[in-house]
Amino acid sequence: MIKPMFLRRAKRQFNFTMARMLFGDKSTAPHFALVGSGSANHLCQRIVDSRHQRVLIVTDKPLRDLGLVDRACETLVKAGIDLIWYDGVQPDPTFSQVREGAEILREQACTAILAVGGGSSMDAAKIIAATLNSTDEPESWAGINKAPETAAPLYAIPTTAGTGSEATMGAVITDEGDQSKVVISGAALLPVAVALDPDLLLALPPAITAATGLDALTHGVEAYIGIWSRGTSAETARMCVGGVAQWLPRVMAEPSDLEARLGMSMAAYYGGVAINQVNVGAVHAIAHQLGAFYHLPHGVANAMVLPHVLRVFGDSAKARLEELAPLMGVSGAVAAIDAMESLRESVGLPGNSEAIKAADHGKITARALDESDGYFSPRILTAPDVEQVLRAITA
Ligand SMILES: [Fe+2]
Repeated sequence: MIKPMFLRRAKRQFNFTMARMLFGDKSTAPHFALVGSGSANHLCQRIVDSRHQRVLIVTDKPLRDLGLVDRACETLVKAGIDLIWYDGVQPDPTFSQVREGAEILREQACTAILAVGGGSSMDAAKIIAATLNSTDEPESWAGINKAPETAAPLYAIPTTAGTGSEATMGAVITDEGDQSKVVISGAALLPVAVALDPDLLLALPPAITAATGLDALTHGVEAYIGIWSRGTSAETARMCVGGVAQWLPRVMAEPSDLEARLGMSMAAYYGGVAINQVNVGAVHAIAHQLGAFYHLPHGVANAMVLPHVLRVFGDSAKARLEELAPLMGVSGAVAAIDAMESLRESVGLPGNSEAIKAADHGKITARALDESDGYFSPRILTAPDVEQVLRAITA
């Protein structure tokens, strides 16, 4: 059931006012980012120097089997730190996985958490960290800034370049009951320090490099074109968009190019810094539903939806897109959108999907509108706007 426009407008205005009251227009305090080949070792040394003796490693099993996590944690092992493992994180992590990790954190008396992996591991690790001093059910933290005020110190080593989760205080956890995506946020969820180490990204498969890269692009674009500009959101969003345009084609052509891998890691990180200040927008609101309904990978869904939503925005996003166009190597808003679509095509991501069913359009639209009213996109989308986007991406 879609609410009347006047109610949706009032809700969005309320959310906007509340967000500005809660967070102000100043930048979110930056945390520590170590950058470059070998930075994972330096990050581990910081954990050692902080006198943590038992550290919970939150990761996924396939990554651990590849030996990448052991490599990231080498310095901890050499320093004699006790590593306690939770490697049960899966794509679209669930509250059950969070509980499994939280139980290990408590039973093993770990004092810090190191997340190694993509957005799923980092998001799960944030909520596991938040259980340190709280007996609340994690589901009760759904919403903006409702996570506990304290959490276990969280360190992160991303092994993809896209999600930006290493730079945000938010996490998305799937509720197994209705398969909905639950957003949880709070200042204590922001990692204490992160390492952007390109050595760990060299074996990333092309399909994941492409999808996560387009997720990063979507973060930069959505943070830049919205009605809220806060702190460093505009500058970091531009660095994200320019970085993806510059480095993604190169990293796809030459996956072992360390400079290009680092360029993409930085672009994704800046995208995270940007959305941590002003949040994502309507593209994510639609893409999240495609993930929930059909398990479309997050980056693939964003890549599909992005150009269509930007066209639907029309004049409301025109001026900002004109400013982004030179970063994509073109001029004008229309050319900027076309360049984003060409980038998607050139990295081999689909423009539509057979998984999306026309019979679901109504339900997807209602949920997408509800979610998007919590964001600060250039304008409020209508049901026909979203249906137009869904028709364009339904094969
Ligand atoms: Fe995203």
